[in-house]
Amino acid sequence: MLVDISNHWQSGKVFLYRHDELVMSRCDSIDVYQDVTEDAYRFGIGKTPLYYHEVGTSVIYSKMEYRNKYGSIKDRAGFFMISSGIKKGLLDRNKTIIEASSGNTGIALANIAKEMGYRAKIYVPNASSQATKDAIMVTGQEMVEVFDEASKHGSINIDAAVSMLKKEMEMKPGKYVNFDQYSNDANTLGHYYTTGPEVTSVIGDSITHVVISIGTGGTITGLAKYYKQNFPSVKVIAVMPKPYHKIQGLKNLNVSKTPEILSKNMNLIDEWMDIDDRDAEDMLKKMIDLDLFTGLSSAANYFSAVKIAEKYPGSKVLTVFPDSAEKYREAYVHRQLFTDDEYNEYSAYFRKDPSDTLYYGK
Ligand SMILES: Cc1ncc(COP(=O)(O)O)c(C=O)c1O
Repeated sequence: MLVDISNHWQSGKVFLYRHDELVMSRCDSIDVYQDVTEDAYRFGIGKTPLYYHEVGTSVIYSKMEYRNKYGSIKDRAGFFMISSGIKKGLLDRNKTIIEASSGNTGIALANIAKEMGYRAKIYVPNASSQATKDAIMVTGQEMVEVFDEASKHGSINIDAAVSMLKKEMEMKPGKYVNFDQYSNDANTLGHYYTTGPEVTSVIGDSITHVVISIGTGGTITGLAKYYKQNFPSVKVIAVMPKPYHKIQGLKNLNVSKTPEILSKNMNLIDEWMDIDDRDAEDMLKKMIDLDLFTGLSSAANYFSAVKIAEKYPGSKVLTVFPDSAEKYREAYVHRQLFTDDEYNEYSAYFRKDPSDTLYYGK
């Protein structure tokens, strides 16, 4: 029989041995992540609009992930990691969540933890945008800025932040829970259980290609798992930035460590593409005409999706827009992609984004 012991976890009424036993039986008897999926929707994460636009005879569908509760695709990973961590008995009120993130995961974890009543400490590379750091600080959770070699060149590399976090955990055993988005299956499964089924619920089984750039690899591996299992003819194409790129959220695997969730799911990826910063930047400017004002990784995804849509006429290409332009004013103005006035004009205009489930770009 399944016993709901969630209240006992909160109040600490169950002895440790008994507690572990119950947690194990709960994990064994039901799919924890199925539970988390329902909780995520109740919490207000997911069910983002699907933007679509034709390229010749092909159609590109893009999940507008910046419409998530805390502004990015990482709300899904953040919620799935925290919520499954609670259900598995890894997180309690005496522990602090500790995580390294170049931005969006940090923002998601800090906010979700706060809303659920938990503490979080986030290690952020110095090169991440000031607006990203502000968004973490404003939650009242702790943030540590990490100065590293890559930051000196304005490039973002998470590895130094991860090493610092590990040292802190070694110094204070038992104080922290590190969900580690790079190795945590919850990061992948958030997309397997929510993003994939959401797309199918809106447009049915028409997708032919999934084209998505990699950071932790959570999005691509989750969607790849979903499509390979349910619609095996779908081709999955991973997009990688060049070494020392400046696209916040993405990783080049030749100069950064390959995340575990990606290395163990490599067999799900059919093809790899490169993306150049310049191509993403040019696409970012063109996307204004499509009613879109996004982060650079969205432009990288869209550029790559257009390439596939053109290469395979009649295809239905799925991609994602991980975040909006909201956190990137300084980067865009500094790199002369937009003037300050243009940034103001577009961000005011695009705040009026649609809330429809399926949204046709002009
Ligand atoms: C803006 C942005 N784009 C893309 C990604 C990559 O997503 P994933 O980690 O699921 O590979 C991230 C991840 O943090 C991100 O913040």
